[in-house]
Amino acid sequence: MIRSVVQGCGAYLPARVVTNDELAKKVDTSDEWIRQRTGIRQRHIAAEGEFTSHLALKASERALADAQLKPSDLDLIVLATATPDETFPATATRVQSALGMTRGAAFDVQAVCAGFVYGMSVADSMLKNGLASTALVIGAETFSRILDWNDRGTCVLFGDGAGAVVLKAETGTGTSADRGVLANALHSDGRQHDILYVDGGPSSTRTTGFLRMEGKEVFKHAIVNMAAVVTEVLDRAGLAPTDIDWLVPHQANKRIIDGTGRKLGLSPDQVVVTVDKHANTSAASIPLALETAASDGRIKKGDLVLLEGIGGGLAWGASLVRW
Ligand code: COA
Repeated sequence: MIRSVVQGCGAYLPARVVTNDELAKKVDTSDEWIRQRTGIRQRHIAAEGEFTSHLALKASERALADAQLKPSDLDLIVLATATPDETFPATATRVQSALGMTRGAAFDVQAVCAGFVYGMSVADSMLKNGLASTALVIGAETFSRILDWNDRGTCVLFGDGAGAVVLKAETGTGTSADRGVLANALHSDGRQHDILYVDGGPSSTRTTGFLRMEGKEVFKHAIVNMAAVVTEVLDRAGLAPTDIDWLVPHQANKRIIDGTGRKLGLSPDQVVVTVDKHANTSAASIPLALETAASDGRIKKGDLVLLEGIGGGLAWGASLVRW
């Protein structure tokens, strides 16, 4: 039984930090409103000329260093993003070239805030099927470029950043004691398009467009779908909520994160929270949170880690990983 085992992880955040107070000088909002409704205190914003591929490259170099591997060891890059450098080619190919990796395949997956779990699932399937042996899975975004900075209902919620993990195909026993990805679960429901989308694109408006969201509706779907998908992924692995060591959720809103943790019966200190510092970085939020908890020593080898996320589409999913 092939398992996709995490060899290392890395993260990168743009240097510029924008606090809630700074935002309140530009739009009609306040630090108190943002903190109470979302838990967000600040976000990082990419500099002029700093693209999604640049953030992804830095996170990837750190993940490779953590894994003690070289770009030439890789034969797959899956990059999850909804904010590619260009309409085509895939931003993953920019990262491939900048890393100096010349073999294998590099492509993007687009599942917005669920992008990282989609990317993990795609890479895991390819490693299991022998299509690749060592993969870089990246979540990288520059959401600041698709925000309507006059819409206080959305512009306060998002930030830029990137995170990456290196997965390597190893032989396991096929039991849940194995290290690596134990199970994945993915879903989407295209009927919910209108509650979270970007009102532009190459085929429709020939513009990039801006993010549009009905926050309350997204909130309701997030609570219900997250509870269902975490149960599904645990069932697939034959494990129970009591087996979980760490919940590393998509970082959109502290209230959604707390709700999922409570439903699983986890104590708050088993839930990794970075939304206060990073805001919602879409596909980057899970690997950024993973890197935070791995590098500070919370997540240890052998721990059971549950990743989950939901975003535009709607698209959602979960991955269960033994670290
Ligand atoms: N600052 C101050 N007031 C704001 C505001 C802001 N940044 N944004 C909205 N408001 C106002 C609204 O205009 C509204 O005012 P009104 O009552 O006078 O009309 C009031 O606050 C309540 O707005 P509402 O949208 O109902 O707030 P909410 O409690 O639903 O919180 C979100 C808004 C966006 C924080 C919340 O719905 C949410 O987090 N949803 C999930 C979003 C999400 O996770 N998206 C990403 C998924 S990947």
